Amino acid sequence: MARKSKKSANYLSARTIRRTAKENRRITRQFEQKLNRKHVAPSEYATVMKDPANVLEVEDLKTYFFTDAGTVKAVDGVSFEVPRGKTIGLVGESGCGKSVTSLSIMQLLQRPQGQIVSGAIRLTQDHGQAVDITKMPIHAMEKIRGKDVSMIFQEPMTSLNPVFKIGSQLDEVIGLHNPDMDKDAVKKRTIEMLELVSIANSGAVYDMYPHQLSGGMRQRVMIAIALACSPKVIIADEPTTALDVTIQAQILDILRRLKDQINSSIVLITHDLGVIAEMADEVVVMYAGRIVEKGTVEEIFKHPSHPYTLGLMASKPVVSRHVERLYSIPGNVPNPIEMPDYCYFRDRCDRAFEPCYGEYPPMISLSPTHKVACYCYQQPADKKE
Ligand SMILES: Nc1ncnc2c1ncn2[C@@H]1O[C@H](COP(=O)(O)OP(=O)(O)OP(=O)(O)O)[C@@H](O)[C@H]1O
Ligand SMILES: [Mg+2]
Repeated sequence: MARKSKKSANYLSARTIRRTAKENRRITRQFEQKLNRKHVAPSEYATVMKDPANVLEVEDLKTYFFTDAGTVKAVDGVSFEVPRGKTIGLVGESGCGKSVTSLSIMQLLQRPQGQIVSGAIRLTQDHGQAVDITKMPIHAMEKIRGKDVSMIFQEPMTSLNPVFKIGSQLDEVIGLHNPDMDKDAVKKRTIEMLELVSIANSGAVYDMYPHQLSGGMRQRVMIAIALACSPKVIIADEPTTALDVTIQAQILDILRRLKDQINSSIVLITHDLGVIAEMADEVVVMYAGRIVEKGTVEEIFKHPSHPYTLGLMASKPVVSRHVERLYSIPGNVPNPIEMPDYCYFRDRCDRAFEPCYGEYPPMISLSPTHKVACYCYQQPADKKE
């Protein structure tokens, strides 16, 4: 009996695991060697933005995790743009690759198993120049992380160092990216930043440890750290999930106000469609490591098109609508190690028809800004129902 269950589809023999681990080491060593190079000419990772109005362009990004059980294609060909001064909302089911996309942009993937295998992440620099983060070695990335692109994480307690005072953690970031500033100027800027994020007793908070602050205050400190060097792009990965709704509203308000003050852009990741509707200019919907739909916030909310987006909208509670129970999309996401070669949503889709049994659908334009990866929207001539 035990023997039989061992032979189930998910069973991996010790030999297979050893072989996969060896192969993974060979692959990841090559990526690591490239990342760890010390003397790399900036021209090697210099690039130009496709559209100068964008601050960030992610093109066909593929980020894989080389695990002993197999390769997890966490992000598999993601492309989106972040225009200057705009907020992009990134939504999708848990595990669809939102955090891995943002960690790839920050070069903060769990290495060596997590690696960007291909694609481009173009980030604008001063004087019309740009860099491709996928080609940058670690030491070059350290110079722009926190300065040009920064991230606010979901749980501030795990991002703040518990053994250092708030002030010194903020001082460190400001000092690191502004080597010309003396100690007093750095402290002055830290206090200013704490005031900007609406911390009233900034002088006292400067000398406090993270555990002495409430969740909302810690998240304000995280925002202060992320915005201290006026980054061009702020990635906020579920910044308010751990907070109650009134604090959430305050935090989002601060984020929006500061974004406008320093004229930067936000990539906002959240499960809360209400927050997206309020904050975002454009929305990108991800499903199982790919983008299934993108468009302006009006297009996505007024004309959601992909069956997954439609399901997502239907699962949203609405005060005036009486329902017996909230809608949930039936079925599960496919196993990330063995992704099918057809539409990843097909097996959960009630609109699946013949073409869906072919290869993964291409991105189809519904308007210049609205795009959807679904055969339902192909030209009528191609559509066989
Ligand atoms: N260190 C890792 N090793 C192996 N697989 C990983 C690792 N980190 C993430 N993954 C896989 O990558 C995929 C995407 O994960 P990710 O954290 O980006 O999801 P997410 O969209 O942010 O989900 P959530 O909404 O729950 O935060 C998942 O299938 C996850 O299992
Ligand atoms: Mg996440």
